[in-house]
This record gives sequence, structure tokens and C-alpha cells, in this order.
Amino acid sequence: MAKKIAVFASGNGSNFQVIAEQFPVEFVFSDKREAYVLERAKNLDVKSYAFELKEFDSKAAYEQAILDLLTAHQIDLICLAGYMKIVGPDLLAAYEGRIINIHPAYLPEFPGANGIKDAWEAGVDQSGVTIHWVDSGIDTGQIIKQVRVPRLADDTIESFEARIHEQEYKLYPDVLESLGAERKK
Ligand code: GRF
Repeated sequence: MAKKIAVFASGNGSNFQVIAEQFPVEFVFSDKREAYVLERAKNLDVKSYAFELKEFDSKAAYEQAILDLLTAHQIDLICLAGYMKIVGPDLLAAYEGRIINIHPAYLPEFPGANGIKDAWEAGVDQSGVTIHWVDSGIDTGQIIKQVRVPRLADDTIESFEARIHEQEYKLYPDVLESLGAERKK
């Protein structure tokens, strides 16, 4: 049976767009009502939901609302793609082993919110992209697949970042396929 995918994103949503162009996506969820990913969803005719933590009494209530959406849509796999919130214990307990994340560095190198900038500032001669299962840590879950991205002699941080994103756009579809997601016909 085809896997039902939801994508979670907080901002730009370029990874969401790549995924949604190649795979059926049930919905995108954003924790930011102004996120550009919601515009992309509209253009791609993908259902979207957005609500913010501050609109709820607690993170538990917030995650319960997300869980309700996941259950209503019978989601099998959550793809985090630039989702800037930590997945809390309730959501994790319900979906552990069914949540993946993309990180713009070669984990365990440079975990955290600024993987590209941190690698650049450390002066590495290569960084990478990682897709991993999500656990309760920050970018600590089991690695599914990763690729190296070199830093070239004439790179600026912008060209380095662009090359990392290019690899992200290949790796996410590859991994989804390897996990049994069916491409759009
Ligand atoms: C990507 O670099 C991803 O690896 C990181 O956040 C960025 C999201 O970019 N987790 P976008 O919103 O998909 O354009």
C-alpha cells in the first residue's frame, strides 16, 4: 500500500516542493502561519495546515492537535524539512520510527540549527547532507543516508550553501523511494 506522507516545514519549503513534485503528499504542516512553504503548497495544490505553539496552552496540547491531523489523514511517514521545532514526547511516542529529518551537514558533524554556517565557519574542506530517523535528541537519530559535499577553493558561503541544497533535493527523493514511497504516476 502506498505510504501516506506529511511534510513539516517552518520556512521556505524548497525541500517540501521537491518532495511534493515527485511524491503524493497528503498535507504540509507549518508551525508558522507566514511561512513561504504555505504559498508553495497552494501552488502545488497540496493541502496545508498551520498553527503556532503560542496559540495553545501547552506544547502537549499543540502536539495533540498535530496528532489529530496525522490520525485523521492516516499518515504513515512524517518528513521534517526545515521544521524548526523539536518533536515533543507525545508526538514522538506516537510516531517514533516513522519520522525522518533532513540535516544540511554530515552528521554527527555540525548538528543544530546552523549546520551550513557552522561547517563553513569551522573551515572544513567538506560537509554534506544527512537524512536520519528522528529521536528525542537534536539531530542524533539513526542515519539513513548521507552524502558528502566538498567546499571548493573559490566557494563563498552562498555557493557552498547552494551546492548543499542541490544535494538535499536529490537525497530526499532517493530516501523516500528507499523507504517504499511510491512516486507520482
Ligand atoms: C534545509 O537546508 C534543511 O536541511 C534544513 O533546513 C533547510 C530547509 O530549507 N533542515 P527549505 O525550507 O526546504 O527550503
